[in-house]
Amino acid sequence: MENKKLMITDTILRDAHQSHAATRMRFDEMEEVLPLLDEIGYYSLEAWGGATFDSCLRFLNEDPWDRLKNLKKYLKKTPIQMLLRGQNLLGYRHYADDVVECFIDKSIENGVGVIRVFDALNDPRNLETSIKAIKKYSNGGKCVCEAAISYTTSPVHNTEYFVKLAKQLEDMGADNICIKDMANLLLPFTAYDIVDKLKKELNKNTKVHLHTHNTTGTGDMINLMAIQAGVDIVDCALSPLGNGTSNPATEALVATLKDTPYDTGIDIQKLLPIVNHFNKVAQRLENDGFLNPKVRRVDVNTLLYQVPGGMLSNLMSQLKQAGQEEKLSECLAEVPKVRADCGYPPLVTPSSQIVGTQAVWNVLLGRYKTITAQYKDLILGKYGAVSGELNKDVVKMCTANGEEIITCRPADLIEDEMRKLTEKVKNDGFYEKQEDVLSYALFPEVATNYFKWRTAKNSGIDKDMATNPNKVYPV
Ligand code: CO
Repeated sequence: MENKKLMITDTILRDAHQSHAATRMRFDEMEEVLPLLDEIGYYSLEAWGGATFDSCLRFLNEDPWDRLKNLKKYLKKTPIQMLLRGQNLLGYRHYADDVVECFIDKSIENGVGVIRVFDALNDPRNLETSIKAIKKYSNGGKCVCEAAISYTTSPVHNTEYFVKLAKQLEDMGADNICIKDMANLLLPFTAYDIVDKLKKELNKNTKVHLHTHNTTGTGDMINLMAIQAGVDIVDCALSPLGNGTSNPATEALVATLKDTPYDTGIDIQKLLPIVNHFNKVAQRLENDGFLNPKVRRVDVNTLLYQVPGGMLSNLMSQLKQAGQEEKLSECLAEVPKVRADCGYPPLVTPSSQIVGTQAVWNVLLGRYKTITAQYKDLILGKYGAVSGELNKDVVKMCTANGEEIITCRPADLIEDEMRKLTEKVKNDGFYEKQEDVLSYALFPEVATNYFKWRTAKNSGIDKDMATNPNKVYPV
């Protein structure tokens, strides 16, 4: 067999603590082992984006841009990887192209070396501006452009669909293609099939990167099957914050592949001091109530109902609020119908909440007696195009007041925003650097609170006097 070294991205600095501990790992809990992590020989260290940006500002009083710069000081050999939600960046709405461009420019300038970009609906138009900007600011190699496919299952999502989408993203300029199985819906033999076809159909130089979780207990098997099918890189998390709702554990995979044609070349002994360190951090997170040991258990609900774990708990809490907890199985039966009606979007943020809430309303009030504003927007194409057909009757209901379905790229309807946002941050007296405008664009309220705290801290005022009383400060 031909030797093919497997590469690993470790997510200990981002997805691992986002999945297990509400993204509450502080920079000072990373700092000590960063030089060691840099020596391991990882493909990359996922460390930024996703919820880390929000959590830094909201809970940790850390400027996310400072965190990035500080990480870069230590990570001299290993690229820092970030996760970006396409035209949503790290926020929850579509941004104007000039904000997307500036955000990517500053991310690369401050040290990001791999950008994984995805769209919840798999609409390539929502990735157009990001991919172009990554290529532009990468300056011929400073940053890898990794386009991700949100993995899901439905009658319209099969291997052929994923391969076609991957080729489209490759044509748009992606260096890597990632299969992003955030809900752990992928199964090992399907993983083999998809990776096998991708490796055959994509350019020789395009790397295939697999991202899965171990929520349902299949993560290690998925990785192993994908490796046998020729995957180039997989995501793992060091064991203190690995497995369960997080990514499969790094050490187990390194040991599994040792002395095989896929040997990662990683010295497991070198991981030990880092593992010891993060065991202490995990304990601190548990002591402070951010890590519930339940997240480490295998949860088969996703396998049974094909809904991500987070979505199931959302459904349960909505029913509980309505005092109708006994309707859960009806809701679970309604979810696939509501999802089919809006063209089978992958069930990730935000579509998982949109579909879930509409399913609850359908069960409690009668089917489509009330349509939520977000569900209507999804039908009207405001989030982007879906992969399947829309139910014509539901479309009729959503356009009853003369609303029109958007067929253009949603961001084409948004005017440039940077100038206005910059003025706002300057007028408020918070402007120190252009990055502040981006923080403000993504999380206006949270960033404003952070700026107030920063101003108070810099001027020596008691920082607690200057902050929002509702804000939770961790110790
Ligand atoms: Co993930």
